[in-house]
Amino acid sequence: MAQIFRRSADTWLRLGLLMLLVAVLGGLLVALTLDSTDYRTGRDWVIDQPLPFSHAHHAGQLQIDCRYCHASVESSAMASLPPTETCMTCHSQIWKQSDVLEPLRKSLRDLQPLHWNRVVDLPDYVYFHHGVHVNAGVGCSECHGQVDRMQLLFKAEPLNMGQCLACHRDPAPHLRPLDQVTNQHWHTDEDRRVLGERLMKARHIDTAGLTDCGTCHR
Ligand code: HEC
Ligand code: HEC
Ligand code: HEC
Ligand code: HEC
Ligand code: HEC
Repeated sequence: MAQIFRRSADTWLRLGLLMLLVAVLGGLLVALTLDSTDYRTGRDWVIDQPLPFSHAHHAGQLQIDCRYCHASVESSAMASLPPTETCMTCHSQIWKQSDVLEPLRKSLRDLQPLHWNRVVDLPDYVYFHHGVHVNAGVGCSECHGQVDRMQLLFKAEPLNMGQCLACHRDPAPHLRPLDQVTNQHWHTDEDRRVLGERLMKARHIDTAGLTDCGTCHR
């Protein structure tokens, strides 16, 4: 019988298949790495805002407590963003002519709140509650990083399911005294685990159920 394909076709076929395999594996590898990188989680990204509000200046140098502007962080699911009036307690006097603050004055004139773009935003299918964490002694910096050093705010932690679960499995070393939750420079010489175990007992924190899917997906 006459040969339909030349002998070399076999070699080309093998080479083609090999290249296909390499391409598929390579693609998979790229997808897997991107999935867990900062690109996917939006970490360290700076987002445009209506005016350049600096946490470094206000929370850092001026040492205004987080709760002055994020008033419901201890009581509600949402920390809340400050209304224009909160800024105006100072800026009706300080820097009141400055151009950077014009959006603030416009917001007051038009009775329209400033539209801040969200930096940390979980998908809708995830349930989160600030009050529960803050009242358990989890400091803001555990999840938001050194906010008091950020000129423009960025997402410093991935805050993905892996990070939530890692702490929910073993929260003790992440806890601190309640009056230190907003302190960005809190430090203790005591062993964090020893302190944490004691705080957990005192506050009746039980890890049973904390890693159940239904805790965060309800
Ligand atoms: C256990 C982690 C964790 C801790 C502790 C935490 N946050 Fe958050 N924060 C988050 C997550 C997650 C979101 C995004 C929530 C969402 O999209 O529903 C968020 C969102 C926010 C927001 C914007 C949306 C909102 O809730 O109004 C502000 C402001 C905020 N946090 C401030 C704070 C402050 C201030 C503290 C400390 C007193 C704090 N957070 C402690 C995880 C945390
Ligand atoms: C407790 C007082 C106080 C409050 C409240 C306050 N600021 Fe300020 N702000 C200041 C002071 C003080 C300065 C710095 C003035 C200077 O350096 O000469 C400043 C400076 C600024 C600047 C200039 C850029 C910079 O950071 O140096 C902007 C923009 C600004 N504030 C926006 C806001 C916004 C928006 C709010 C509300 C979310 C707010 N401020 C709330 C006191 C305050
Ligand atoms: C003077 C008011 C003021 C103080 C004090 C302040 N913040 Fe904010 N915060 C804001 C404003 C305004 C925004 C929205 C603009 C932005 O994202 O920078 C914001 C945004 C945030 C966000 C991002 C919310 C989101 O998802 O968009 C976090 C997280 C946050 N603040 C944490 C803190 C922490 C932690 C402290 C204390 C160390 C603090 N803030 C102190 C005014 C304040
Ligand atoms: C650094 C530690 C830490 C991180 C990170 C953390 N949690 Fe928690 N979370 C806790 C602790 C501690 C409790 C238990 C509080 C208690 O029982 O008083 C808790 C409780 C909860 C609860 C239970 C509320 C209830 O109804 O009892 C939810 C929901 C929750 N966390 C969601 C999340 C989500 C979503 C994330 C990630 C975005 C997250 N947590 C990240 C420490 C953490
Ligand atoms: C402590 C909170 C927490 C618990 C418990 C939890 N999740 Fe999640 N889950 C999250 C957060 C936060 C996200 C979204 C952020 C991300 O991309 O990881 C998420 C995302 C997901 C997604 C979407 C993943 C994707 O890549 O789009 C699935 C599916 C999921 N979770 C399933 C589960 C299952 C199944 C369980 C129980 C075994 C569970 N989760 C327990 C916090 C939690």
